[in-house]
Amino acid sequence: MTNFGKRSIPPTVMVIFGASGDLTSRKLVPALFNLSVDELLPDRFFLIGYGRKSVSDEDFRQSLKNSLASYSRRSIEEDIWNRLSPEISFHSGAYDDLSSFESLKTKIGEIEKSVGQDVQVIFYLSTPPSGFLPILENLGNSGLARMHHNTPSASKVIVEKPFGRDLESARKLNQMINRRFAESQVFRIDHYLGKETVQSLLVQRFANSLFEPVWNRNYVSCVQITVSEDLGVGSRAGYYDRSGALRDMIQNHVMQLFALTTMEPPSSLDPEAIRDEKVKALQAVKPLSLENSHPEVVRGVYSEGLVGGEKVMGYLDEDDVPSTSSTETYAALCLQLDNWRWKGVPFYIRSGKRLKQKVSEIVVQFTRPPAILFGENSNRPLSPNLLTIRIQPNEGVSLSLNSKTPGLETKLQPVNLSFGYDTTFGSNTPEAYERLILDSMAGDGTLFIRGDEAEHSWGLLSPVLETWQSMGNQGLEKYAAGTWGPLEADKLLLQRGHEWITNKQ
Ligand code: BG6
Repeated sequence: MTNFGKRSIPPTVMVIFGASGDLTSRKLVPALFNLSVDELLPDRFFLIGYGRKSVSDEDFRQSLKNSLASYSRRSIEEDIWNRLSPEISFHSGAYDDLSSFESLKTKIGEIEKSVGQDVQVIFYLSTPPSGFLPILENLGNSGLARMHHNTPSASKVIVEKPFGRDLESARKLNQMINRRFAESQVFRIDHYLGKETVQSLLVQRFANSLFEPVWNRNYVSCVQITVSEDLGVGSRAGYYDRSGALRDMIQNHVMQLFALTTMEPPSSLDPEAIRDEKVKALQAVKPLSLENSHPEVVRGVYSEGLVGGEKVMGYLDEDDVPSTSSTETYAALCLQLDNWRWKGVPFYIRSGKRLKQKVSEIVVQFTRPPAILFGENSNRPLSPNLLTIRIQPNEGVSLSLNSKTPGLETKLQPVNLSFGYDTTFGSNTPEAYERLILDSMAGDGTLFIRGDEAEHSWGLLSPVLETWQSMGNQGLEKYAAGTWGPLEADKLLLQRGHEWITNKQ
């Protein structure tokens, strides 16, 4: 698994397809810059932006420098930028034009000559999905995909989300990639896996003897995973309306949190050992029921409301959203696993836009102790112990316990034992993309999604998407912006004797 600190990385050329896009300026270049500040980039590192526009090297460098000023977590250090900048260039070409890939190969050959040894080339696919096929084809046909094959400097490909839009397209995409690259060269990115707290989930589970013995159906009454946002779709409605919450957030980010929470201990920290266990957990999930009498899925769309005291419009009034849209901006599911550890424990997962607040957290709700000594005469049942793993914001972990309030009467109240990352370790933690780019350069796939993982996740959700599509707006529940989502999502839990913990905090 991910090692911290400096790792041995060969000289590297990173080629970003879709270099003039938002992701490059907001995330990728700031990540590269911060890796350079931390002296974690290889000594010889080159960045080539590949795009259809004709842009001079100088203009490309200047635009990246401007974006650093806006998006880097640390301010620009001129000497570092001056070291990076001469190695940045732009290569103009179409994605479906083989000759542009051949000239890219020549350019890389020249870099290799100047370095005097093999360089590994990392192809970063940051284009809309329609760009993937021609790029992959030309990487194959030009021989770029097989450069230094079977050596530590073998080419690698990083694929941005969305990884397909259903099971069938994800399978096709996997086939397309695996025809040109071995699985060990493929890095399907999910930026949630790069978040510090997500990485430490495995540490919390397997480096403490306290949790693992109770991490099962005997002690856990339910688990809730919330990834909510207060923002709306902003300027991304064009993309979002073709995706919706299930595709945009649940299939990838939320299902990854789910897999890490439910998986068995891996036999080692080897990337494949970890990913094998995640796949097994996903395989154990029962197909979701969409039956009206006992639904396990809820979808909703926001209508106008107040977020942070400000009036915001409903989804259907957002720019670029068709008035006939039936896209969900909220989805909640109740997942059940058919395995020894988790049989009978509901996993409630949800994600949505324009909810009350931005929060990503996993809450493990333990079974209530028998109300024999405490709680038997009171109107209020004993509160269950809760373990909350907060991924963002206020990253940390807290455990709620019942405690006696001071005084002569015996009254109980839940109290929190908490640990905050910021207060303990300071706040300047690396961004997810820093960790992920570094890992891909080191060839470590632990924090990336394996092809079969993506397919299992789609396999579970594709039938839901198909049913929703056939239903149009029927069953698409409205919720006012700034609330915790549709009432049906509360019922999903109430019917099973639970309620959303995050809503009460
Ligand atoms: C992206 C989604 O993958 O994750 C966006 O496409 C979403 O819709 C974003 O806003 C949320 O990421 P984070 O790191 O801000 O929780």
